[in-house]
Amino acid sequence: GTVTLEGEKRAAAEYAAGLVEDGMRVGLGTGTTVAPLIPALAARGLRLRCVATSEATARAAEAAGLTLDTLDGVGELDIAIDGADQIAPGPWLIKGGGRAHTREKLVAAAAARFVVIASHDKPVPRLTPPVPLELLAFGLEATLRRLEHAVLRGGAKSPDGGVIADWTGPIDDPAQLARRLEGEPGVVDHGLFAPTLVTDVVVATGEAIDHTR
Ligand code: A5P
Repeated sequence: GTVTLEGEKRAAAEYAAGLVEDGMRVGLGTGTTVAPLIPALAARGLRLRCVATSEATARAAEAAGLTLDTLDGVGELDIAIDGADQIAPGPWLIKGGGRAHTREKLVAAAAARFVVIASHDKPVPRLTPPVPLELLAFGLEATLRRLEHAVLRGGAKSPDGGVIADWTGPIDDPAQLARRLEGEPGVVDHGLFAPTLVTDVVVATGEAIDHTR
């Protein structure tokens, strides 16, 4: 049968909901792949403490009856589950299409297990630009000049008031680019997620689920 991308996202999300156990502290990502995770998790009827990476996720989690806490309130997370824009060998990820990558990286870094869920269109042989950036509003023009290859995305700010831009220069070596961006004052965070952050990748292709850990 033909499974739509939406169906694949739901399948990956439902599979990941099955990795969550009673009593866990759970990080919830942001985006269209995480959307079906929230009701799937709520349907399991477990006692969970959840941390949301965006207002949209917080609202959906509340509506589904999940218990929300803050990252500092729970301290550490047993598991975090999130989508990605691109998944390259490593696995290296690009995230932040949804403007939430700074919070998403904090939640991923606080989690013992970080599970990336995706439809079959997300794995790529190598990362390609753009890489989402969150920049401080203060000194924005100077930051953009120094970066050289960054363009403002326009529209809404990040959940923490940062300005969203995109790195449009080359990504020859993701580790090197990550170091460069982290060394620029004014860059709050970037959407490159290093392999050290990721423990599990769950990709749905048609009816099949591929779980790599
Ligand atoms: C949000 O800021 C992003 O990192 C999303 O997790 C990423 O863009 C994937 O979103 P979709 O699941 O909607 O493709």
